Amino acid sequence: MSLPSDHSGALERVLSLLATPPAAPDTRDGYLDLLPPESTGRRSLAQALMLSTPVPAVYERWWRPALGQLAKGVFGPTMRGERDIALDYLDLAPGDTVLDIACGPGNFTREFARAVGERGLAIGLDVSPTMLRRAVTDTDADTVGYLRADAADLPFADASLDAVCCFAALHLFDEPWTALDRIAVVVKPGGRLALMTTCARGPSPVRGVSGALAGATGIRMFGVAELADALAARGFAEVRQRLDGVVQFVGAVRRR
Ligand SMILES: C[S@@+](CC[C@H](N)C(=O)[O-])C[C@H]1O[C@@H](n2cnc3c(N)ncnc32)[C@H](O)[C@@H]1O
Repeated sequence: MSLPSDHSGALERVLSLLATPPAAPDTRDGYLDLLPPESTGRRSLAQALMLSTPVPAVYERWWRPALGQLAKGVFGPTMRGERDIALDYLDLAPGDTVLDIACGPGNFTREFARAVGERGLAIGLDVSPTMLRRAVTDTDADTVGYLRADAADLPFADASLDAVCCFAALHLFDEPWTALDRIAVVVKPGGRLALMTTCARGPSPVRGVSGALAGATGIRMFGVAELADALAARGFAEVRQRLDGVVQFVGAVRRR
């Protein structure tokens, strides 16, 4: 099968990892599209911005660093620091297959591609066509394949991935627990997971303001122990957590 895109080699490899590959893959925008146009994730203000045209254009350079730092606090990690945390938790080796869930414009996916090298594969998955178009345009590596799919319905075959990342997105999902269920199934035994999401903590005025802001924009605030417990219940071990501001980083390894 030949695919009409610059990322065709990577998309062929993505197709080979799917539980049920489509008979006629839609790759006309440079990513593999498994969703009908109207599937766009949760109907919240925060997700509406991810589907817009202006936000993907400024996301990587301005939006994410500025809002991320606000959430992490002045002493929290910079974007480079976040990348280092992700790479530490994911423990990528050359030849690995890594899935970046809710990849946005591919800002982390491209970093992962560098870590897995020429024999490896970095897959960026998102529901937003505007984010994915930006990701395709900004990615010049034939070891990166982008995929439009819902995190709650990951289309991969069981135990097909060496590592899974989901940064700055779990709090936007309608079904975060279903997404974690699916992650636990598609990652290999011994596979690694890295999450970055919200954390309801701090003195009560801070919790009040961040909770109100989150409520207004449709962002879910997770409890301090909620994700670590959810991962342990889904067969993950070696759970690590780091807290910065109203953000938590969680790493874990799928039990063998
Ligand atoms: C804030 S961006 C995160 C991008 C990148 N991971 C980062 O850390 O900068 C959140 C992304 O989640 C995506 N998203 C929201 N709901 C989703 C879902 N149910 N399945 C897949 N992606 C989703 C949005 O479209 C958006 O691109």
